[in-house]
Amino acid sequence: MRKPEDLTTRDLATIWHPYTQMKVAPAPLPIVRGEGVYLYTDDGRRLLDGISSWWVNIHGHSHPALNAALAAQAAKLEHVLFAGATHEPAVALAEHLTSILPRGLTRIFYSDNGSTAVEVALKMAWQYWQNRGQHARRDFIALHNAYHGDTVGAMSPGETTAFSKPFEGLLFPVHRVHSPYCYRCPIGLKRSECSIDCLGDLERALASRAGSVAAVIIEPMLQGAGGMIVWPAEFLAGVRRLCDRYDTLMIADEVLTGFGRTGRMFACEHASVSPDLICLSKALTGGYLPLAVTATTESIYEAFLDDDRSKAFFHGHSYTANPLGCAVALASLNLFRTEGTLDRVRALERQFRARMEDIRAIKVVGDVRAIGGVAAFELITGKGGYFDSIGPRLYEAFLKRGLLLRPLGSILYFMPPFVITEQEVDWAFDQIAEVLREVDSA
Ligand SMILES: Cc1ncc(COP(=O)(O)O)c(C=O)c1O
Repeated sequence: MRKPEDLTTRDLATIWHPYTQMKVAPAPLPIVRGEGVYLYTDDGRRLLDGISSWWVNIHGHSHPALNAALAAQAAKLEHVLFAGATHEPAVALAEHLTSILPRGLTRIFYSDNGSTAVEVALKMAWQYWQNRGQHARRDFIALHNAYHGDTVGAMSPGETTAFSKPFEGLLFPVHRVHSPYCYRCPIGLKRSECSIDCLGDLERALASRAGSVAAVIIEPMLQGAGGMIVWPAEFLAGVRRLCDRYDTLMIADEVLTGFGRTGRMFACEHASVSPDLICLSKALTGGYLPLAVTATTESIYEAFLDDDRSKAFFHGHSYTANPLGCAVALASLNLFRTEGTLDRVRALERQFRARMEDIRAIKVVGDVRAIGGVAAFELITGKGGYFDSIGPRLYEAFLKRGLLLRPLGSILYFMPPFVITEQEVDWAFDQIAEVLREVDSA
């Protein structure tokens, strides 16, 4: 039997980690257990998971109800192919989702992660127009600071960053327009004096490409990996209005924002809009298993119905609609009812806002923003951006204090599982304030 303390050494001998410069990265944390908001290392350290394990966890680690749902489903059916077969968890989850999704989203297509949910949406939008004989509809419009995933299709609408730069020649072209990044307003206005004028860029792009745009893709209300940029709801309403006016499809990538993260079940609710396609993953299973959904309208679905089989949507994955994932997702959605999850997120936002004001006063902090269960601090440091050396320094400083945070370069954010207590939030904000004051005094 190997000793558990060998875990890191064994890992480094065989494993290649994501987003990691393996030559210089610190050794990975050897995590042996999770419970509630905490992760435990093999040497007994307890870390508060301040980023919900990459934004997926909402009800806490190892939740008894989710564990039970998973075990019960595993004892019945672990997996079956999803072409020409179906199963209860997939159907029940689809029924539940269509009852809570923004109006009109009545068709559920399953895949297995956020990037595939986006790939599916892009391909569906593209083929929708082809099937309707509108072959000129080949353009996609995306936003600056966007992030939609790491597969080749999902990378294309994402902003060119360190993540996608090496693959530039591989990506399909998209037209990119302003996002409402109020702290760094793309047209130099102040929020108090603007009428969401940055939306004009999207309108010009749509007007000049009339009849050639397949879809506009956005991350509603919160652009995550691009810098935790919180939007005014009016921008979101404006995107829907313009997509209607110029008769094109709106894709809402709610991979991050779905399932309560912004204080509403879906971020589109902040502006009472329904997109034509919505992408969901991450917290869909409460953070347990990779599962994704692209939901769409009957009218898009109907464009694929034909006696000609070649008009079908030819896309699928081996683990499409995995029964274990669907069963846990259903159990997670039930917890929203039994544990009052959305009320908890709204209380979190109130507490975040109250605590953020002290932090705003720290010199290194340029901007603070919050929405639902997300608080972000934009730091004014030398280089800025993802490769700002402040990111790894802060990561280490928080780790020493038992708080797991992974800043996006100069953007520090806190996005814990919703079950975090008020005292734990206060403790985490104390750590954030103290570390940032240390940065100031250094
Ligand atoms: C908005 C958004 N879309 C898509 C993705 C990709 O999801 P995944 O990492 O599951 O492929 C992410 C991941 O962070 C995301 O934030």
